Amino acid sequence: MPDRYLSFTGTAPGRFLTRRLGLPQPAALRRWTPERPGLDGGEVLHLRAGETGTPAGQAPASDSPAAGSPTGTPSAVVLDATGVRDVDGLAGVHAALHPVVREVAAGGRVVVLGAPLDPADHHQAAAQQALEGFTRSLGKEIGRGRTVNVVRLTDRDAAESTLRFLLSPKSAYVSGQVIEVTGAAQEVAVDWERPLAGRTALVTGAARGIGAAVAETLARDGAHVVVLDVPQAEEEARKLAERLNGTALALDITAADAGERIAAELPDGLDVLVHNAGITRDRRLVNMPAERWSSVLDVNLASVLRTTDALLSAKAIKANGRIVATASIAGLAGNAGQTNYGASKAGVVGLVRSLAPRALAEHGVTVNAVAPGFIETKMTAAVPLLIREAGRRMNSLAQGGLPVDVAETTAWLAHPASGAVNGQVVRVCGQSLLGA
Ligand SMILES: NC(=O)c1ccc[n+]([C@@H]2O[C@H](COP(=O)([O-])OP(=O)(O)OC[C@H]3O[C@@H](n4cnc5c(N)ncnc54)[C@H](O)[C@@H]3O)[C@@H](O)[C@H]2O)c1
Repeated sequence: MPDRYLSFTGTAPGRFLTRRLGLPQPAALRRWTPERPGLDGGEVLHLRAGETGTPAGQAPASDSPAAGSPTGTPSAVVLDATGVRDVDGLAGVHAALHPVVREVAAGGRVVVLGAPLDPADHHQAAAQQALEGFTRSLGKEIGRGRTVNVVRLTDRDAAESTLRFLLSPKSAYVSGQVIEVTGAAQEVAVDWERPLAGRTALVTGAARGIGAAVAETLARDGAHVVVLDVPQAEEEARKLAERLNGTALALDITAADAGERIAAELPDGLDVLVHNAGITRDRRLVNMPAERWSSVLDVNLASVLRTTDALLSAKAIKANGRIVATASIAGLAGNAGQTNYGASKAGVVGLVRSLAPRALAEHGVTVNAVAPGFIETKMTAAVPLLIREAGRRMNSLAQGGLPVDVAETTAWLAHPASGAVNGQVVRVCGQSLLGA
């Protein structure tokens, strides 16, 4: 279902009229293409806000891929605020960004680097937590398709895949997020062009919608993709698998032995497991029969738990492997008519947070979730017009996301160099007004 309002505001009369009426002004977002892999605008501006009493300054150019000297319209600003330990230090955040934020190119990025909150120093914790409120507020006011995110890190090298993602068009619909990169960088040889070459990725519910985009994106990154979907969708799954030089697997993920069957199908194991299959069966709780409750809980949560357990205990997910599950902002904020769906998606968040440290320690596997907001798919095309319009506009970018936005986020989490990103729930929602 095309977003006609977005097309209208892209024309001069549309822009004029909607501005006069005080209506939202969505900027057309640019996604990654091989021809234009970088952000528009000049080089990335690296700044530092720091130690108490130290005015904001320009950080030394790092050897990160996008480092460089300032230009008139930087494509992005990276503010190193890891040294901010108190309220005085926060003045450096203002001093650094106040003069430059206006100059950031349309579709550009602001990334604030923070430090983990120190439980032994409440001044440091207050100052670092302040960066979140700052970032979320700036995300809501910056406009022109620009995004603002925080990365909390302890080792900048461990955050390279994360910074590359955030400083590229691949993160067009990710804003207002706080991403924790814990731990140190691992010694992994990375091909940044085709990071998943030689790896196998299985995507559930991949015959269409977001799952199909995830399959395509992981294949672009070099993976051999197993396109899993229900037997009724076998034809679509097979066509997609053929196009991606992958494999189709017709399997209902709610089958009690689904994990064992996947393990049998992939005797050499797999590197990336994406739990994307999901359904909705909306009704208010008072009108919801038990069958609607249980079918949603079964597909969206119980099967995710069952297959994850089966594959981990069969050691079918290789070391430095990745599990990416699909939550939803409905699981974070709640949604009328979706008690079943909201419960299932919140359950996914609980699963991720609990399992992540153990899966990493015991299997060398990270576990993260993507939480999409309003994404333009068949699922959301079926939503009544007024609710659909509200869903599209009620975020800082004033538009719905595309399946590829969720797919790119999944690909970053699935990246071999993302081993220090674990237990995170990353919203792909254009900084939706719903939820935290
Ligand atoms: N579209 C959105 O705005 C949105 C927002 C938040 C979260 N999500 C989540 O993203 C995921 C994908 O959503 P979508 O919009 O692409 O949905 P979709 O309905 O277009 O596609 C879902 C796919 O999952 C498959 N599937 C369903 N039950 C299955 C089962 N038992 N076994 C195997 N495959 C099964 C379907 O056949 C279908 O191909 C879901 O988990 C959904 O809850 C979507």
